[in-house]
Amino acid sequence: MNTQTPFDLAAVEAIIAQRKATPGALLPILHDIQGVVGYIPPSIVPAIAEGLNISRAEVHGVITYYHFFRQHPVGEHVVQICRAEACQARGCEALADHAKELLGCDFHGTTDDNKFTLQTVYCLGQCASGPAIQIDDDLYARVSKEKFNSLIQAKRGVQ
Ligand code: FES
Repeated sequence: MNTQTPFDLAAVEAIIAQRKATPGALLPILHDIQGVVGYIPPSIVPAIAEGLNISRAEVHGVITYYHFFRQHPVGEHVVQICRAEACQARGCEALADHAKELLGCDFHGTTDDNKFTLQTVYCLGQCASGPAIQIDDDLYARVSKEKFNSLIQAKRGVQ
C-alpha cells in the first residue's frame, strides 16, 4: 500500500499550530488531519508530537488505539461493516464475505479503481437492526447482500 501519497503539509501544520495550545488537543488534531487528508500520514507524527510536547509513541498509541483513525490513504468511499456481537448474531460475517467478494478486496484494502475502501467497525449503534454498515457518513441497517449490492451500485453511479 502506498503511504507516500502527497498531502497538503501546510494545511496539516496549520491544524497543529491552531490547536496545540488547547488542553486535550491530540484527538481534535487527529480528527482534523484525517478530515483534511483522509488519513493520518505516519510522516506527520513527529510534528504532532513536537507541537504538543509529547512523545511520538504517545501519538502513535492514540492513532492505533482508535479504529477510526486510518494510517493509509483510502478510496473515494469508505465502507465499514459492523462485526461486533449483535451484528454477528444477525449474519454480518456472511455479509462481510459477500462484500469482500463483490469489491475484490479484503478488509483494510481498497478496490483497484480506488473507489472503495473496506473496513471493519465494532458497533454503529444499530445493534437491534443488524447487520449494520456505514458508507462514508451514511448509516444503513438490516443490510442484506442484495441491499449491499444496490448501495455499492448507487455509489458507482449504476442504478
Ligand atoms: S453490534 Fe453492530 S451496530 Fe451494534
